Amino acid sequence: MKQHRLMVDTNKCVGCGVCARVCAAQNLEIDRKKVKLRLDDCILCGQCTGVCPTKAISISGYDSEQIDKKGDTRLNPDEVLDVIRFRRTIRQFKQKEIPGEVIEKILEAGRLTHTAKNMQDVSFVVLDQEKNRMEQAAVSMFKKIKPLADLFSPMARNTQIDDHFFFFNAPTVIVILAKDKTNGILAAQNMEFEAEANGLGVLFSGFFTMAANASPKIKKALKVPKGKRVAMTLVLGYPDVKFLRSVQRKKLDVRYM
Ligand SMILES: Cc1cc2nc3c(=O)[nH]c(=O)nc-3n(C[C@H](O)[C@H](O)[C@H](O)COP(=O)(O)O)c2cc1C
Repeated sequence: MKQHRLMVDTNKCVGCGVCARVCAAQNLEIDRKKVKLRLDDCILCGQCTGVCPTKAISISGYDSEQIDKKGDTRLNPDEVLDVIRFRRTIRQFKQKEIPGEVIEKILEAGRLTHTAKNMQDVSFVVLDQEKNRMEQAAVSMFKKIKPLADLFSPMARNTQIDDHFFFFNAPTVIVILAKDKTNGILAAQNMEFEAEANGLGVLFSGFFTMAANASPKIKKALKVPKGKRVAMTLVLGYPDVKFLRSVQRKKLDVRYM
């Protein structure tokens, strides 16, 4: 028995066909003024359940209800651009814990992020008591490979790997696991926006992500399920630095064809 199924209540269906119009799988048709499923198989994206004016279509097996939209919330486009322009990677954190309800909102931003083929393959590990142990495992791994990196990179030679090389004494770290790396990274970006809206600063730790994926010990400790990988690691805390202006970037590289 499938965990989730598309359910049609023909008593409620008014045959308007809006559901069929949004169905990416072309799996819905109107037959004698009622919606009909062509196949009992789709990606369960739920768009049909979100547009139906009479709530005639639903997906079974979820433990949460759909939330009705109260009007259209539009963000100011220039303010959105400024959020992107002035967002900075934070590596200096205050020694202040992040409240549980803020962490929950950040995780919710990750959970709600769209996934390719609606895979919903993204999961999260919040490092709390285990944060230092995970960091030390990554530190000892990087210390081992440093002599090799030093041969090729002056930047590597110039960098010390201390005990806080990965997490910069931040109070919280969230490791994002996914089958599809892109899905995990998209979740990470939305989580960063939600974190910033809550006054937090964020670092995307590509280094810890790399170390975790390369280390069977870290993967085992994180209980990364088979088929999944660490897609990204978010290091979070209240910023102990204030940026006064934007930073320069290359000019736009775009072609219109
Ligand atoms: C995918 C990704 C991985 C990153 N990994 C690290 C990292 O491991 N350590 C670090 O100090 N910064 C890391 N960064 C931060 C980048 O160095 C930073 O985004 C870039 O220098 C631009 O600075 P800004 O974020 O302040 O605009 C990472 C950024 C991205 C997008």
